[in-house]
This record gives sequence, C-alpha cells and structure tokens, in this order.
Amino acid sequence: MGVEIRVEGLTKRFGRQTIWEDVSLTLPAGEISVLLGPSGTGKSVFLKTLVGLLKPDRGNVWIGDRNLPQLPEDLLYETRKLFGVLFQDGALFGSMNLFDNIAFPLREHTKKNESEVKRIVQEKMEMVGLIGAEGKLPGEISGGMRKRAGLARALVLDPEIILFDEPDSGLDPVRTAYLNQLIVDLNAQIGATFLIVTHDINTARTVPDNIGLLFRRELIMFGQREMLLSSEEPVVRQFLNARRVGPIGMSEEKDISELEAEAKLGSDPGKLPPIAPQLMPSDGRIRPTQHAPGSWLRAHGVTPPPGSFIDDLGRDWVQEWPRYVASMGASAGRGL
Ligand SMILES: Nc1ncnc2c1ncn2[C@@H]1O[C@H](COP(=O)(O)OP(=O)(O)O)[C@@H](O)[C@H]1O
Ligand SMILES: [Mg+2]
Repeated sequence: MGVEIRVEGLTKRFGRQTIWEDVSLTLPAGEISVLLGPSGTGKSVFLKTLVGLLKPDRGNVWIGDRNLPQLPEDLLYETRKLFGVLFQDGALFGSMNLFDNIAFPLREHTKKNESEVKRIVQEKMEMVGLIGAEGKLPGEISGGMRKRAGLARALVLDPEIILFDEPDSGLDPVRTAYLNQLIVDLNAQIGATFLIVTHDINTARTVPDNIGLLFRRELIMFGQREMLLSSEEPVVRQFLNARRVGPIGMSEEKDISELEAEAKLGSDPGKLPPIAPQLMPSDGRIRPTQHAPGSWLRAHGVTPPPGSFIDDLGRDWVQEWPRYVASMGASAGRGL
C-alpha cells in the first residue's frame, strides 16, 4: 500500500543553469505531501526527475532497493509503472475521446482484453466522477473535467505513487475545493503515496500530511504539515501566509537593496494565522496514514497559534480527536 520514496542529495542542471541542488527528502509511504514554490523554481523538473523522465546530475532517488538514476533502461521502464502522473494540463490526446484517453496506458502497457479494459476504465471514471462522459472529446469538456480525466488515466495501472503537477491551476476556488476533496478521498481509498505540486496556499495548508518548499535552488524545508505551518522561518512564513513582506518578491526574488530597505523599516511579518484542521475523507473515515491533530506540535513542544484546529462548527479537533478515533473503531489508522 504505497511505497516510500527517498531522495538524497539530488541536483539538476540544464547546461550552466542550476535548477536546484542537494535536495533531500523522504515521501513517507501512503502519505500526502505537497511541494510548494514560486513558479520557475523547478517543481515540474523535480517531478520529472522523480519518475525518471529527466536524469539528475547528482544524487539518488530510492524506491525500495532501486535507485532510479542508476537503473538500466529495462528496469527503469518497469519502475516507472509504479507511478501515475497527472500533468499540468491533463495532457490528454485531443483527437481521442475520454474512454480511449483513459484506456491508453492499459492498451499500451498490458495485455488485457477489451472487456477488462472497459471494466477498469469505467471503475476509474467512476472514482473521479466522470461516468457518462466516455464519448466526449477533451475539447468539449471543462478544465475541471479534463483534470479528472487525466487523474483517471493516472489511476488505470493501479499506481503505488501518484504525482500531481498543479492540479488546481486554472480552476476556480469551488472546483479546487472539490478536486482537493477528491484527492483526499482517493488517498484514503487506494493508499498510494501522493506528491502534489501546487502554489495554491489553501491546498498546501489543508490537504497534505507533509509540506516542502523550494526556493532559490534549494529545498528550504520539508516536514510534517504542523512543522511548516508553525514555522518562523521567513521564506516559509511568507509563502504559506501569502504575505508581501519577506524574502520573496514580485519578480520571484527580491534584490539585495530591496531586502535591506525592508530590514531597515523593521518589516513585521505579523502573527501566524491559526492552523486549520486537515481535510478529512468525505465519508468521515480516518486515513491510515493520517496524523493526530497537534501531534507534531506536542512532540516538539511548540504552541500552535491561537484558534488552531478549530473547524467551522467551532469544534476543537485536538480535543475531539480521541473521542472521534474511538467512535470510528478499528478503522482508525495511525490516528492515535
Ligand atoms: N528540458 C529543459 N531544458 C532546459 N531548461 C529547462 C527544461 N525544463 C525546464 N527548464 C528550466 O527549468 C526551470 C524550472 O522549470 P519548471 O520545473 O517548469 O518550474 P516550475 O514547475 O517550478 O514552474 C525553468 O527555468 C525552465 O526554463
Ligand atoms: Mg511547473
């Protein structure tokens, strides 16, 4: 149920341009992680390096006992089948209807007969809420539906790892909320390891178990959601709180003089906002890999900002959790 990915000292260059260097992180098996960063920081390049579509200049990508950059072609091809990837635009074939688009990996990579293909395609289309749209062409449907079709296609080979490249780009806030819920529900259902690249702060704050931030060719921080949401590190703080004052400028990187001017003014990054409760599966079950609210903070002696973990109904999820876990019985995973 989901595999761990261990990235060690990963560096990627294109010619003389260093995209990022010495990136190390572990995506825990079955958990949802988010990678944040200003545009152009190499998030898509990172995803492509994880699947082995791009070769890093240095470093390792361990999936079990296989180190992707070192694998011979045939093993790399095999290992890639563990991944499902949702590319930014859905990457559907414009001249193929949704059924054929979603069936494509099955026809390409397996020897399944047409009735099996049909059963699997329909199962995945149902999982993403696309039943009835089999005959539609990508150009005839909304952006949100195209994302879901791309997601269904990423699911057909029953991946252990799913990579999402800006699933929320181009979607309105309501569609983004639906898609985020779908992602959490899918994770609960299939238990694969998820990595979501986004620059939607709300997605980053509410969906994942872990958050990472890429900035200026470095992975600034990677860790449990509560660690980043309570962090005082200026870049993390600015990015997760969408503030203007801080190291990140409009042109992605402020120049030194601008930063010095701000330092002189004694720019106040403000108080940390409350940590929202994490999005739960819509059937109310607890994901097997879900962490108890407040557990990282407690373990590290960090006091959360006032108002944290309180939902729209005024319930405090740190208080509620033990009772909630008990009421869900044995289906609760790590939630204690
Ligand atoms: N195949 C490539 N060859 C050369 N440069 C590339 C290639 N792919 C991406 N880049 C460069 O890498 C940088 C990061 O790109 P990208 O990963 O798309 O950023 P992000 O997804 O964070 O917006 C950009 O400067 C881009 O021009
Ligand atoms: Mg990108």
